This record gives sequence, C-alpha cells and structure tokens, in this order.
Amino acid sequence: MKRAVLFLALAAAALFTVAATTPKGLESGAFDWRLPAGVAPPPVPADNPMSAAKVELGRRLFYEADLSIDGTMSCATCHEQKRGFTDSNRTRPGVHGDPGRRNIMTLAGVGYFRTLTWADRRETGLERQVRVPLFGQTPVEMGMAGQEAELARRLSQDACYRQMFRDAFPEADGRIDVETVSKALAAFQRTLLAFDTPYDRGVMSAQARAGERLFRSRRLGCAGCHAGPHFTDAATSDDAYHRLPGAASADRGLAESTGRDADTGRFRTPGLRNVAASAPYLHDGSAATLPDAIARHYAPGDRAAPSPADTARLGAFLEALTDEGFLRDPRHALPRTACGRPL
Ligand code: HEC
Ligand code: HEC
Repeated sequence: MKRAVLFLALAAAALFTVAATTPKGLESGAFDWRLPAGVAPPPVPADNPMSAAKVELGRRLFYEADLSIDGTMSCATCHEQKRGFTDSNRTRPGVHGDPGRRNIMTLAGVGYFRTLTWADRRETGLERQVRVPLFGQTPVEMGMAGQEAELARRLSQDACYRQMFRDAFPEADGRIDVETVSKALAAFQRTLLAFDTPYDRGVMSAQARAGERLFRSRRLGCAGCHAGPHFTDAATSDDAYHRLPGAASADRGLAESTGRDADTGRFRTPGLRNVAASAPYLHDGSAATLPDAIARHYAPGDRAAPSPADTARLGAFLEALTDEGFLRDPRHALPRTACGRPL
C-alpha cells in the first residue's frame, strides 16, 4: 500500500515535470505526434526535422495538382485518404496515359518502413521516393522529368507558398526547390499514423479474435512476414521481399532492380493497417477481395491454405485493422485554407 502511494507521488511528480517542460520543448522543435502511449514515433532523418509548419506545407503540396506537368494530377489523385491513401483501380495511368504498372500502396505508417515501393531496394527514404511519381519514366506518373525549374517557378508565383516555405525552411531562407518540396512531402507523410483501430482498442469481435489467433499461429505464419505493429517486416528488415506461390505475374519484381534471377517475383510485404479500405490487392491489383488476396499466398490446391471458415476469420481480423477516424481525419485531408485564406 505504502509503495503504491509512493509510486503515485513519483508518477505525479514526473507528470508535473513533463507538463512544465513540454511547451518549451515544443518551441525548440519537438513535434507533437499525437501517438497512443507506448508507440514510438517513426524515425526522422537528422537533416529533415519535423515541424508543424513543414507538415502543413507538405499537406498542401500532397494535394497540389501543379506538381504534375499538365496540372491535372496530385499525389492525392492516386492516394485517396478515404481508401487508406490508395484508389480503387488495379493500376492507374499517369498524366500521359502510360498504363500504371503496379497497384497503388497504402500510406498509413509509411514513415516506419525501411524500404519503400513494391520492389526496389534502393528506395530507402520518403524524401527520395518523392522523385518516383514526380520524375519517374517507367511509367510516367506526374511527368515532371526535366521540369525541376518549372516546378519551383510555379510554386514561387504564389505569395502564400513563399510564406509557407519560409516558415517551414527558415534555415534555407524559404528556398523553393525539389529538395524542400520533397522534405515537406516526407514530413507530412510521416504524420500518417493509424493506431486507433478496434484491434488497438482491444474491442474486436469474437470472429476477429479467432482470426488474430490464426494470423499469429505457427500453422499459417502470417505474422512472420506481416510482423509487428505495422504488420510488415519492412519496418524492421531491409529484406522484406517474398514470393507468393499463387501471385505469379509477368512482373519480375525485385529482380528488375537487382538483376538477380533469384529475386524474380519477390515483392515487399505491404503493411495491413486500413487494408479493408484499400482493395484491390497485391502488386498488380489482381486480387479483388481480402479472401482472394489470402488465397493467392498459396499454390492452387495447396492443402496448407486456410479453409473458407478460417479465411472468413482472418478477414474479420484484417477488417479490425481499419482506423475509421484516420480515413476522415481533417488533418490529412485537402486543406481548405492556407495563410488564413480559403484555397
Ligand atoms: C499515378 C498514380 C500515383 C501518383 C500521382 C502518386 N503515386 Fe505514390 N504510388 C503509386 C504506385 C503505383 C505505387 C507503388 C509503386 C511501385 O512499387 O512501383 C506508389 C507508392 C508510393 C509510396 C510507397 C509506399 C510504401 O509502402 O512503400 C509512397 C511513399 C508514395 N507512393 C508517395 C507518393 C507521393 C508523395 C506522391 C506525390 C508526389 C505520389 N505518391 C504520387 C501511384 C501514385
Ligand atoms: C512469406 C511472407 C508472407 C506470409 C507468410 C504472408 N504474407 Fe501476406 N503478403 C506478403 C507479400 C510479399 C504480399 C504482397 C505480394 C504481391 O503483391 O505479390 C502480401 C500481401 C498480402 C495482402 C494484400 C495486401 C495489399 O495491400 O495488397 C493481404 C491481405 C495479406 N498479405 C494477408 C496475409 C495473411 C492473412 C497471411 C496468413 C494467411 C499472410 N498474408 C501471410 C507476404 C506474406
């Protein structure tokens, strides 16, 4: 009893200290991640510290169609918030109509992943990955290759953008270029955190709880690859690439960038938060539903595949990984104002 009282007193003192120091900490650049207790924030590169001003700028840029050559396509055209930052198509063409090659990926928790995209080990950071949709040629998405100066010119014409870049990058005198655009987009994406799900709150249905037991069972081994709080080994490993026996396609996968035959058909394990909102599935969008996606982990006729009843339980568990608030959170949505004026 005495010990409990002492503990409470210590806890209160600790709380008081935190409360007394936090405002100062925030001023000096600490960032309010609004994470649940016990969840660590994603790693942040030393040369791109978080700030509220940078995140606000990154959010506006994420919804900015001027980031595409003909002004018709923003990041959000393909990454729609209400679908867990994906769209509902198998693939989606870029500005010039080049057919998309791969299914659009969800972005919840993307700041934790050590490698990005379906099958390219070289994509190791959000700042760098921004160049793929902006400048990529295979396929062309936003079509800005060779248009770096044009990108800076467009944004610089807007007085509010000039102000937002100054607030976000005081150390660079508010410079507007590909580097600062990429840094702001990366900072915004690090705030895409979806930890308020029935699973996290411990309020899953009996069906979903049975699904979680199967998911973690040695027999099915889902959690071996879809590991940890983000449900992917990509948060802890640089080698989170696997070949699913039932998901073969003409796409060479990891082998395309490594040139090694052994990497043919290997793709990075996707995270599963908000997966129920992000159909269709797999690197080529060829699985229309969660049961389809689960079935494609096994060769046809493989007796180790889960039964229809177990697949339904697994599906109920995967549905309990949806953060409904995240899909509607105004902090991640199209901004309605900038610099105090309606956009
Ligand atoms: C034309 C549609 C399209 C547009 C526009 C687009 N993306 Fe994507 N995005 C994709 C596709 C497709 C993938 C998977 C690409 C691959 O693996 O080859 C992807 C993957 C990603 C990933 C990797 C996620 C992960 O888990 O590894 C990030 C991050 C990302 N996009 C951010 C952005 C940002 C930021 C923008 C705007 C600058 C953007 N995207 C614009 C289609 C698009
Ligand atoms: C060997 C590693 C591994 C295991 C084990 C595994 N997965 Fe996967 N999972 C992957 C990879 C890799 C992909 C993407 C494959 C592709 O696109 O070709 C994937 C894709 C998925 C998808 C589609 C997600 C999306 O956004 O497209 C779901 C759902 C899924 N897995 C659920 C499960 C379930 C349930 C189990 C257990 C029955 C399981 N996985 C076991 C590696 C694994």
